[in-house]
Amino acid sequence: MTKPAHSPTLVVCRDDQHASETVAKMFADLIRTQADAVLGLATGGTPVPAYRELVRMHREEALDFSDVVSFNLDEYVGLAPDHPQSFRYFMQEHLFDHINIAPANTHVPDGLSNDSDEHGRGYEKKIAEAGGIELQLLGIGHNGHIAFNEPGSPVDSRTRVVDLAEDTVQANARFFESIEQVPRQGITMGIGTILESRRIVLLATGSGKAEAVQRAIEGPSEPSHPASLLQQHPSVTFVIDDAAASHLA
Ligand code: GLP
Repeated sequence: MTKPAHSPTLVVCRDDQHASETVAKMFADLIRTQADAVLGLATGGTPVPAYRELVRMHREEALDFSDVVSFNLDEYVGLAPDHPQSFRYFMQEHLFDHINIAPANTHVPDGLSNDSDEHGRGYEKKIAEAGGIELQLLGIGHNGHIAFNEPGSPVDSRTRVVDLAEDTVQANARFFESIEQVPRQGITMGIGTILESRRIVLLATGSGKAEAVQRAIEGPSEPSHPASLLQQHPSVTFVIDDAAASHLA
């Protein structure tokens, strides 16, 4: 596959709280210098403490989100925005309901769209019209997925509906009452969409992510490990804790 052109910046923190604070500060610094910044946001267990820190900064340090615009990476197909396991619900619960972001400025793909191709194109158009994403937050799946781009996702993929890998369904079952309730498809920004962000920060914490992080940074850049495709972007920072760094050379 394409030769990796760039090495990511690596920030190793002593624990997940410090890693989360580091990421929150990156977003806060951006918002303080550019009040109408366009943020790319992620869901999952990993970013929860970073969002908590942003909420604290809003309350205690007057961090102002009133002109900020956000685009989330992905959503489950079939879940309504008010479904407690939907990513829209997650964002309201962990961030949007606790800061002064304008609801109309927050974007999450629509898991109920009956024309997902059209919806995907429209989502990409909205990102472009907003001026593109300045700073995109990512997590990483155990299998190297970013957003819902599972292994095999092409480097030029765009916002689209995808089948979730069995590994992803199992990992996310902890948020549902049973594994049968986990949707089998997601609508996700593509790798190509993500790589168009001007800066990317990937947050990974815990030993469970160590192997995926190692392959992303030190492995070949190829679609079998989607996060390794980030090597093709000139401005990526991995903010990880000691546990997630434990497999690095
Ligand atoms: C999910 C999301 C990803 C997230 C990943 C890891 O399925 N679609 O955006 O990065 O899995 O999640 P967690 O942070 O809970 O480990």
